[in-house]
Amino acid sequence: MSPEAAVPSMPLPTAIPDRKTVDPHIDVEAEIDRLRKERNAVILAHYYQDGVIQDLADYVGDSLGLSQQAAKTDADVIAFCGVHFMAETAKILNPNKTVVMPDLDAGCSLADRCPPDLFAKWLEQYPDHLVVSYINTSAAIKALSHIICTSSNAVRVVGSLPSDAKIVFAPDRHLGRWVMKNTGRDMVLWPGFCVVHEQFTARKMLQLKAANPRAQLIAHPECEQAVLDMADFIGSTTGLIEHVVNSEHDEFIVATEMGVTHQMMARRPGVKILCAPPESGCQCATCPYMRLNTTEKLYLALRDLEPQVDVPADIRERALLPVQRMLDLG
Ligand code: 13P
Ligand code: SF4
Repeated sequence: MSPEAAVPSMPLPTAIPDRKTVDPHIDVEAEIDRLRKERNAVILAHYYQDGVIQDLADYVGDSLGLSQQAAKTDADVIAFCGVHFMAETAKILNPNKTVVMPDLDAGCSLADRCPPDLFAKWLEQYPDHLVVSYINTSAAIKALSHIICTSSNAVRVVGSLPSDAKIVFAPDRHLGRWVMKNTGRDMVLWPGFCVVHEQFTARKMLQLKAANPRAQLIAHPECEQAVLDMADFIGSTTGLIEHVVNSEHDEFIVATEMGVTHQMMARRPGVKILCAPPESGCQCATCPYMRLNTTEKLYLALRDLEPQVDVPADIRERALLPVQRMLDLG
């Protein structure tokens, strides 16, 4: 059976009310600060988090930067403001540390639509292939992989494999296609996609470009090929932010989750940023999973040291080598 036919369509998470209530008189940000010291905790946040969380964090970054930070932290507690696969990667690298998330339901459409049992069955067709998995996968998928990559190092990771290696790439088909174009390598692609980036269409981008002729279109490689073909620059969240900060241009159409604009505007005040609107008619794109995290939930996570992220030992041990291979590439 092809994975397209078998992968269930996952419902998007709806707004889940906070399970615990927070006294409204508490200064949540001051309490987070107090607890982070008391617990010897480090707060890691992805660029798709709300600006308030980004500003509170000890480190804000893309998936690669966050895993590099997780690999070298000497904190006892890692409070991960991102999605589940990111916190899981931190746990794989730090089995003896406590890893908490503000909301354990913060998943990822790419990771959720690549179930390990189906993936393992699908891989049986490619026994002589090396498996390259995007970091946006569960620990169980990582355990089935040769090496992990992120959007910022995928071209380098695939380029590092022997030139005669046959390669399976999972789970993002758009990132996979973009990597094939940039490496000249042929790869078998799992047909996954991100529900946020798939909503950007070339039609909308053309309209925006026509209305804003001075603006550069910059896009994350999870966007579909027709959008990437039009883009002036393609990069990971860090790559997109650095491009805006260092560019001679001063207007940008940004085709990724709108959280990145927080750093763009903070680091280059006055720059004109247009969030690429999804085809749905909304004015900006937000990741429904990332947005489950709030400062109140971060406070509760640090206070109660839950919810914790755990990975079964057998999976964790098998997932470590592919993650380490990626980190060793620098
Ligand atoms: P980055 O690694 O570029 O931060 O991307 C993570 C992600 O989930 C993109 O949707
Ligand atoms: Fe996953 Fe897409 Fe959200 Fe990134 S934006 S975490 S790929 S659902």
